[in-house]
Amino acid sequence: MYIIETRKLVKKFGDIVAVNGIDLKVKEGEIFGLLGPNGAGKTTTISILSCMLLPTSGEAYVNGYNVVRQPDQVRKSIGIVFQDPALDDQLTGRENMEIHAMLYNVPKEVAKQRIDEALELVELTDRAKNLVRTYSGGMRRRLEIARGLIHRPKVLFLDEPTLGLDVQTRERIWRYIEVLTKKEKITTILTTHYMDEADRLCDRLAIIDFGKIKAEGTPEELKKQLGGDVITVKTKYADKLAKMVSELDFVKSVKKTSGLVKISLQNGEEHITDVACWARDKGIPIESLTLQEPTLNDVFLYYTGREIREEGPAPPLIMGPMMRRPHR
Ligand SMILES: Nc1ncnc2c1ncn2[C@@H]1O[C@H](COP(=O)(O)OP(=O)(O)OP(=O)(O)O)[C@@H](O)[C@H]1O
Ligand SMILES: [Mg+2]
Repeated sequence: MYIIETRKLVKKFGDIVAVNGIDLKVKEGEIFGLLGPNGAGKTTTISILSCMLLPTSGEAYVNGYNVVRQPDQVRKSIGIVFQDPALDDQLTGRENMEIHAMLYNVPKEVAKQRIDEALELVELTDRAKNLVRTYSGGMRRRLEIARGLIHRPKVLFLDEPTLGLDVQTRERIWRYIEVLTKKEKITTILTTHYMDEADRLCDRLAIIDFGKIKAEGTPEELKKQLGGDVITVKTKYADKLAKMVSELDFVKSVKKTSGLVKISLQNGEEHITDVACWARDKGIPIESLTLQEPTLNDVFLYYTGREIREEGPAPPLIMGPMMRRPHR
């Protein structure tokens, strides 16, 4: 059974088809991402899944409940953090949490313990007594995420959880999402148009554009689909290396650009040492070797023919010799 499942989900606003036949299957315990540009239909999709909008057609199930026929059960199963801040900034951080607990009928004693725990997790214990209007954007976001968990939802929806936040705050929020997802054993669905966020955080993701899913898989699978890796070799003997290296049977193609040799191949991490040893045996001195893989940006471009508007910092492509960007 999937914790979330949609079949041919459609949402029209007049002539605009915001969601155009989406089939989603999300497994329990996953962090699942909807990655797409502005207007792709991400918010509309999670609004339907959280019973805030009715679909025009198709079906959607959350925690086994139908979003149209069993909205109360669905609402009890979920927590939501909206794209636009939804805190009361005339109240303190703790009061915002308490009101949420009351709305969801969490008994007072249980609520207190959960609120303390959640505040601790997002490192807001010290500021819990302050009015939310004195909080920074990142603190508000952290409070909202913590609040979404007070009633122990099975599924947490996060709409653009790090939109407009600085790099350090985004990384902290990613850590909270990971820790919370594991600790509370919840399923997290997040929308984002940040490639690095999708890549770093999501177990699986769907690339969505004009209301349709264009591709789906783990970040790794999506990138692998585009073909192999690229090893870039820096050497004074680029001509010689470029000519000879194709004798290695795992090399698919070789390109030389301004003193660099780019070798395309499958499973680069297995072969990068082979290339280094081969060059040494042939007496070709090498200054550096780097391994690259296609980015999600390349994946997005491949499936949509367009570049996504990228506001976040791009992930590092090239690292030191024989290193690969770590992937969770
Ligand atoms: N209430 C509404 N009335 C009319 N059109 C709407 C409404 N809500 C969304 N739309 C339209 O539906 C499409 C999808 O919007 P949606 O908000 O789902 O996109 P999104 O992927 O969340 O984008 P963003 O990254 O900007 O948040 C857009 O063309 C939008 O203008
Ligand atoms: Mg949106």
